[in-house]
Amino acid sequence: MKASVLFVCLGNICRSPLAEAAMRREAEQLGLELEVDSAGTGDWHLGRPPDSRAAEVALRNGVDVSHLRARRVGPEDFHRFDHIVALDAQNLADLEAMRPPGSKAELSLLLDHVAGREGEPVADPFYGEAEHFDRAWSDVSAGARSLARKISGTG
Ligand code: 4NP
Repeated sequence: MKASVLFVCLGNICRSPLAEAAMRREAEQLGLELEVDSAGTGDWHLGRPPDSRAAEVALRNGVDVSHLRARRVGPEDFHRFDHIVALDAQNLADLEAMRPPGSKAELSLLLDHVAGREGEPVADPFYGEAEHFDRAWSDVSAGARSLARKISGTG
């Protein structure tokens, strides 16, 4: 059966859309059939496209994220997705507090999937410069690569 992964950050306009894009690319390269989505714990940007700086770094790396729209994570997501992956520790704590009893999703922190980077956050680039978006892209790509390999059983 097709596995499913939801990436969650705060606004769903910077880090989690980038993680979604990186994961689609990894899955495609591995020939892995995967349902991938992203959401935010906050509601400031609902219905908005990704931040233009995030869209730009994605495009520079060959992925178009301009069609994505921000949405908020909800209790139903814990029944719908096999994996819910937080971008930082606060996102993970918020998800743990929201998790409905008996739901199936396995919760994790993205960089916990990368050997040697356990416990590290993908830093929020929203108030940063272009280089912080490059850093976020590199972090989500490393996380997506490891997670896709784990799910496909090749990592
Ligand atoms: P994201 O970045 O969580 O990576 O999408 C943020 C976007 C917006 C805000 C914070 C973080 N904000 O405070 O509006």
